[in-house]
Amino acid sequence: MARELEYLDSEQVERFLEQGYIVIKHAFSLEKANEWTKELWLRLGADPNDKSTWKTLKERTHLPWKKREKVETLAPTAWAAIKDLLGGEDRINSEASSWGDSFIVNVGTEELEDCKKHVAPQDLDNWHVDGDFFVHFLDSPEQALLVIPIYSHIEPQGGGTIIAPEGIDIIAKYLASHPEGVLPTGLSFTPSTSKYTNKEEDPGYISFLREIKKCHKFVEMTGEPGDVILLHPLMLHSASKNYLRIPRVITNPPVGLKSPFVFHRENSDDYSIVERKTLRALGKDRLDFKISTDRRQITPARVLAEQKMLQEEKRLKEAATQMVS
Ligand SMILES: [Fe+2]
Repeated sequence: MARELEYLDSEQVERFLEQGYIVIKHAFSLEKANEWTKELWLRLGADPNDKSTWKTLKERTHLPWKKREKVETLAPTAWAAIKDLLGGEDRINSEASSWGDSFIVNVGTEELEDCKKHVAPQDLDNWHVDGDFFVHFLDSPEQALLVIPIYSHIEPQGGGTIIAPEGIDIIAKYLASHPEGVLPTGLSFTPSTSKYTNKEEDPGYISFLREIKKCHKFVEMTGEPGDVILLHPLMLHSASKNYLRIPRVITNPPVGLKSPFVFHRENSDDYSIVERKTLRALGKDRLDFKISTDRRQITPARVLAEQKMLQEEKRLKEAATQMVS
């Protein structure tokens, strides 16, 4: 018998299987959202009510996390929905089940505010699949869902993430034909065994900016503080332009599994909803998928850059101490 769902109803399950995402409204309270973001502008070094102070900010700022909380207590309904989508708590990596205050703030730019011609979704320059820290396989456990908790009011054209549900089919079929695994290479994947100096020449190379041109349906992730959007891990998505310049605040915490997804379960009732969606994207009922190289973690360029920044900070601090003494 299939696992009894804790939170999702059959309509939400069908919506996830059709579109690859669902929105959990008011998964955490406005009070909680306000409490979590109360130091946000101090951390940014700007005033939310004075746009002239935003000049020092980039269009999108990624803050590191300073505090974390278990999803179970922060957003209980979202946690229940996550368990439903992934086939139960037993399958979830408990180390990846807390969220931090690593806010991603999109304040737009002055140019965008004055801009009359808005960029079409297909022409955005940030289309990607999440997970820059591991070699990707169809069944990879590292990024089992794409999760977007919302901390601000996001209106249309206000910088909400744009998704392309048809992209799940493209990426699932691509990964199914690459059991050797693929490396996240910016806005592209490159076979992990590639011998090409120029990755783009590899026949197995896939560019997300090229693939997105095959998609026709795009959805903008709008919402209110406390909403949580849960998306299939292979969803193609892009940051968008904040023409309104109402600061857009979200986080993007991963959820991981203890072991890889399985697409050839003995009993079809045991498939998780995410596994069922992947199979549907492939047009199959089951798939005996086997990887042909080892799973491995990689150190993304962003982490190397962060490490370099920390080393530089340390060096400057030491130099300053020596000058004083
Ligand atoms: Fe992303």
